[in-house]
Amino acid sequence: MTEPAAPGATAAAPAGTPLLEARELTKHFVVHHKGRNRRTEARRARRVPSDHHAGEEQPAEPGLPPAPPEDQRERPVVHAVEQVSVSLPAGGITAVVGESGSGKSTLARLLARLIVPTSGQILLDGHAVPASSRGRRGYARDVQLVLQDPFSSLNPIHDVYYHLSRPLLVHHMARRGPELDQAIASLLQRVALTPPDQFMHKYPHELSGGQRQRVAIARALAVRPRVLLADEPVSMLDVSIRLGVLNLLAGLRADDKLSILYITHDIASARYLADSIMVMYAGQVVENGPAATVTDEPAHPYTTLLLSAAPDPDRAAPPALAGRGAPPSLVTPPSGCRFHPRCPHAMAVCAHRTPPAFEVTAGHQSACWLHTGGLSAAESHPLAGRADGLVPSPSAPAPGKEP
Ligand SMILES: Nc1ncnc2c1ncn2[C@@H]1O[C@H](COP(=O)(O)OP(=O)(O)O)[C@@H](O)[C@H]1O
Ligand code: SF4
Ligand SMILES: [Mg+2]
Repeated sequence: MTEPAAPGATAAAPAGTPLLEARELTKHFVVHHKGRNRRTEARRARRVPSDHHAGEEQPAEPGLPPAPPEDQRERPVVHAVEQVSVSLPAGGITAVVGESGSGKSTLARLLARLIVPTSGQILLDGHAVPASSRGRRGYARDVQLVLQDPFSSLNPIHDVYYHLSRPLLVHHMARRGPELDQAIASLLQRVALTPPDQFMHKYPHELSGGQRQRVAIARALAVRPRVLLADEPVSMLDVSIRLGVLNLLAGLRADDKLSILYITHDIASARYLADSIMVMYAGQVVENGPAATVTDEPAHPYTTLLLSAAPDPDRAAPPALAGRGAPPSLVTPPSGCRFHPRCPHAMAVCAHRTPPAFEVTAGHQSACWLHTGGLSAAESHPLAGRADGLVPSPSAPAPGKEP
């Protein structure tokens, strides 16, 4: 149907230069063997005798499992994020959607530069982040991360005033005294915790979950960031107050031209809030495009699965793909298309060739072999062992349009 785009092509974005851009980010975490956590590794390392020569067996410390021979020490890795590119425009909201374990938080931590990528690039205003401490501090100010859990992200022994004053003072945004009081009041007003005097001296346990998350957002806003990475900011809140926090994020984008990366497992809220949606599965981007297009005309079977699992009061029939297995191990991810063990459309090609991102319509991409016309009869043959009996073909309708 269409030409493949480069693997890991950027998420569709509204007009404007990307403020923050990630190019082909990959993160692999080394797996530590059972019983050999980092502490035992450190103890073992401390016991290496000074006259030890490489390649020699190490004596086992009592109580520790013996070190494996040198040639067996290549560690398996968790392929948490692989070749993910994303482009965040100023004043835009991009949603990252996927099941638990699909790599969303790892992507957020990479973008916040809390962890070092295995490979790939991060650009702010089109430039790599300077290695100088001043450059890194500037980036940390510009790109703020709001975490999922408002219950653990605030220190219970400090009040709201303390939490908000820290970033203001550390980044020289205000001086102690009336200026600091005013800055804190204004932050509380921006997150609709009003009147500010009622909240300033409260402790986290005196606030509801929604109020805590608002304080966490206010704390992120204190340093006047340009990008907010919001990692499941409403998933731990009561359903009744989620909408208020989502509307707060929407207001920040509109009023302050903040660029927001909204991470969620709930594709319905992504549709509500975001301009564009990037769907991740097993560490990879499988679909991206304008939010309305991705949700109304999903082009990847996994997106259809997510949509079928989203609550829909109007739907009488049971979800078409619900209950189709669980995400794979990321230590030994499936070959080819990582979704193939769960996919009702899986073809022979899917088990051994990774699909590139195909441009389905302008700005809408799907990494799925259903969107190419170039498969041979053998390649497009239904995958042996497929349980559903659906007959896939390169001209099959878009996955979201199945009955
Ligand atoms: N520090 C870590 N060490 C090892 N594995 C990790 C680490 N952090 C995350 N992972 C693994 O990376 C994968 C992706 O995790 P995560 O990014 O938290 O997914 P999500 O946020 O989508 O639930 C998971 O398999 C998780 O177990
Ligand atoms: S049809 Fe093949 S490439 Fe497309 S999602 Fe299913 S398994 Fe993956
Ligand atoms: Mg997460």
